[in-house]
Parts: sequence; C-alpha cells; structure tokens
Amino acid sequence: MSTGALFGRGSLAAATLVALGVGVVALLLLATPSECARAFFVFGDSLVDNGNNNYLMTTARADSPPYGIDYPTHRATGRFSNGHNIPDIISEQLGAEPTLPYLSPELHGAKLLVGANFASAGVGILNDTGIQFVNIVRISKQLRYFEQYQWKLRGLVGASQAQQLVNGALVLITLGGNDFVNNYYLIPFSLRSRQFSLPDFVRYLVSEYRKILIRLHELGARRVLVTGTGPLGCAPAELALRSRDGEECDADLMRAAELFNPQLGVVVGELNARYGEGTYVAANSFRVHFDFISDPAAYGFRTAKEACCGQGPNNGVGFCTVASRMCANRDEYVFWDAYHPTERANRIIVSQFMTGSTEYISPLNLSTVLAMDAAASTRIIN
Ligand SMILES: *[C@@H]1O[C@H](CO)[C@@H](O)[C@H](O)[C@H]1NC(C)=O
Ligand SMILES: *[C@@H]1O[C@H](CO)[C@@H](O)[C@H](O)[C@H]1NC(C)=O
Repeated sequence: MSTGALFGRGSLAAATLVALGVGVVALLLLATPSECARAFFVFGDSLVDNGNNNYLMTTARADSPPYGIDYPTHRATGRFSNGHNIPDIISEQLGAEPTLPYLSPELHGAKLLVGANFASAGVGILNDTGIQFVNIVRISKQLRYFEQYQWKLRGLVGASQAQQLVNGALVLITLGGNDFVNNYYLIPFSLRSRQFSLPDFVRYLVSEYRKILIRLHELGARRVLVTGTGPLGCAPAELALRSRDGEECDADLMRAAELFNPQLGVVVGELNARYGEGTYVAANSFRVHFDFISDPAAYGFRTAKEACCGQGPNNGVGFCTVASRMCANRDEYVFWDAYHPTERANRIIVSQFMTGSTEYISPLNLSTVLAMDAAASTRIIN
C-alpha cells in the first residue's frame, strides 16, 4: 500500500483528529503543575515588571548585565533586581512558576493558565507619568491587554473555565511611586507641581487609582493585592540627588508617600464595603520598607543608603551597567540599584505581605487569604 492511499481524504481527517487529540493530551500534561496553583496577574511599574519593556523601544529597561546576576539563569531578564523580584516570590508562595511578561512570545498555550505579567517599568497612575521613557505600557493599556489575554484564554479553555480562572486568581498591582519620582518631583516646577499642591495632587492620584481598581473588578479580579508606595525619599537616587547630607531621606518625597498610602487605604476600605471584605488587600509598603531602612542591621543588611550597583554619591546616580561600581555581597544591601530592592530585600517584603500584622497588610495578610481561598476552592470541588 502506498503512503498516498493512507493520506486520502478520510484518513487525513482521522490523522488531524489524532493530532488534535495528542495536542489536547499534551496541553493537559503541560497544564498539570500550574493547574494546582491558582493563576496570578500582575500590573504596575518597574517594581513588578518581569520583562515587558524588553520588547519595547524604551530607556526604562533591565535586560543587560549585571541585572539578573543572581537569577537562576544568571541572565538579565528585564527584572529590576539582581535576582527574583516581588511577583516571582509571590509565585513561589503560590507554588507556581513565575508569570511571563504579556509581551513575551512564549506566553501561549498552557502557559496562559499560569497567568500573566502586564507591568511596565516607568508607568504611573497618570498617563503623563514616565513620558521621558517614550514607549511604555501605560496602565490603561495594561488593562486592555488583560482583556485581550482573556479572549485568548477563552479560546483555549472555553468561557466558563476562563471566567473561573480569572475570578480565582490572585492579582497584584503596584503603582504610584513614578507619579512622584518621575512626574511631580522629576524637575523643579514640573507641570503637575504648578497645577497642584502636593495634597491636591495626591487626592487626584488616588481618585484615578480608584477607577483603575474598579476596572480590575469589572474585568473579573476578585483578590487584588494593592501596594502603596515605599519611603521614596530614602532611595539611594534621592539621597544622592535631593538630600543635603546623603543620609537624611528627602522630606518632600516622604511627605508624598505619607499622604498617598493612608488615602489609598481609605479607598480600599470603601471598595471592600462595596464588593466584599478582602476583595482588595492593601499592603503598606511604606511600613514594610521603613523597618529595614531605619534599622538595616536588624535584618542583616550592612546599608540601606547605598545602592549595590551604580556610581556617584550613595552609588545612586544613573543606571546600573557593566561599567558601574558593584558591591561584593548583594545580600548585604537593601537596594540593588538607585531605586530597586535586592532579591534579599524583596524576600523580606513578601514575607511581611504573607504573615505581617494589619499594620503591614490589611484587612488580611496573604497567608490568611491563600488559606481561606484554598478552603473555599476545596468546598467547590467536594
Ligand atoms: C489615559 O489614557 C487612556 C487612553 O488614552 C484614557 O482612556 C484614560 O482616561 C487616560 N487617563 C487619564 C487619567 O487621563
Ligand atoms: C498573619 O499571618 C500569620 C501567619 O499565618 C497569622 O498567625 C496571623 O494571625 C496573621 N495576622 C493577621 C493580622 O491576620
């Protein structure tokens, strides 16, 4: 029998069916490890970007050495750290692999079930934040990508499974720092600082953030971890540029964070009253960071005032590149570069999210959330 006969019309259809069957089995096999973990979606700025900016024409990028020097591959991935970032460590806690950047060509098929990372370094709550970085994925675009992701997911698993995956997912959103650092305080007499007093600017920011959080709920998010901004004035970049002695945290940026975080907390409380307690969980990043910035030695750090990788005063000027001065032991530093924590600091931050008291994270900590949600999903299965 010639092979030509084997691939007649009927057998071609059969062969296609077999191929499809194999495809489905392969998909299920691939899906197994991630299927036990809940999906994870990430939105926001460089603190949580897993590499979307690698695919864009922008200066806000971390895809060359020595970024990633302590990542398992020892390669720069676009994460703004020496190793794992905050979303990676949360993924670990979920028992999941790290989320892929939404723009990564690898994000298709079973990988979609893990979730996705939509964050883009340089963005803020406002569209005019980070314009100097040229081409970045602003938050409204990140939300549109989330819709696009859900079309793809429905194509893969059907509408009702897709809905379940999104509703059951953990969501992280980190925004706000750049609206101060890369907008209001970027240059003296910035447009926004001439338009708004700081308290009015913060009220405006929070009212815009509120719309973003509501939109996430409309798009199916039901567990949203919202992080405020850290003590921005204590970053090595700000100590180098704005502090008189290179020691004292910049008062304007500290005031900005102190105004912003409590108001964001109020919005989270209000939205929880509307959508259900614990739909949004507010992490007080200011408190979380401030502990080890004010007493680094208590956490085994040598310094919180100097970046590990950089140049100039506080090693906090400019970008971290192969030409920079790099510290010998990354684990002794809170800051990897002028703005971003080391992996070791990121691990402490996430452990506070996991088990901190309500001063750090409210109304529930993440370990309580994960335990509650696991119990609820077991009840559905049984
Ligand atoms: C930002 O831009 C998007 C898309 O152009 C728009 O829908 C949104 O309202 C803008 N946000 C603000 C705060 O102006
Ligand atoms: C946070 O998590 C820890 C460990 O799971 C738990 O013992 C503690 O009660 C939680 N705290 C709050 C305020 O929920």
